[in-house]
Amino acid sequence: MKLCFATNNDHKIAEVKKCLPGSFSLVGLKEIECDEELPETTRTIPGNSRQKAEYVFQHYRVDCFADDSGLEVEALQGAPGVDSAMYAGPQRSHADNIALLLKNLHGIANRKARFITVITLVLNGTFYQFEGVLNGTIIDTPRGAGGFGYDPVFMPDGESRTLAELRMDEKNAISHRSRAIQKLLNFLDSKAVV
Ligand code: IMP
Repeated sequence: MKLCFATNNDHKIAEVKKCLPGSFSLVGLKEIECDEELPETTRTIPGNSRQKAEYVFQHYRVDCFADDSGLEVEALQGAPGVDSAMYAGPQRSHADNIALLLKNLHGIANRKARFITVITLVLNGTFYQFEGVLNGTIIDTPRGAGGFGYDPVFMPDGESRTLAELRMDEKNAISHRSRAIQKLLNFLDSKAVV
């Protein structure tokens, strides 16, 4: 089955491809000849997820899914949340975002945080949403060279390594994104589309 993952992020496409059975042909936005920046103007993660999927469906008429993710920190009332990518400004620098996060958490004992992903699937014109969550804590000093984003400061519950210190397959086994993807797959399976 051919399905478009509405993203230009090759890292994400590679991550998701590893979770998908061979019966799937996963294509990115490039393959459907979409080189536009997708709109992400709502103020919530589920809202942005739906907005991107809806845009691709309306303009390209393909079965597709979009994801939107973010880091929610309990002591910061859920920030950076929907602003995770541009927390420290429009330059979207992972290093700047981490530096601001650590600054805002300086002296705060409660380090509880979670990553959340919401996937919106459009299948034959109907919309469905799936959520994946990974709970953990934010450490004081970045560690590890893998992954991306906030991975070097996020330690999943029950782990002594940060997400950036895990191998890609180890991160995939527990990540918020793979949990949401698994729900998507279970759904497609139940509809016998896989
Ligand atoms: P997106 O919606 O998946 O593009 O995620 C928005 C932002 O959340 C990213 O730019 C990262 O800052 C952060 N983020 C999402 N997923 C991850 C992850 O798996 N590791 C680290 N940071 C992430």
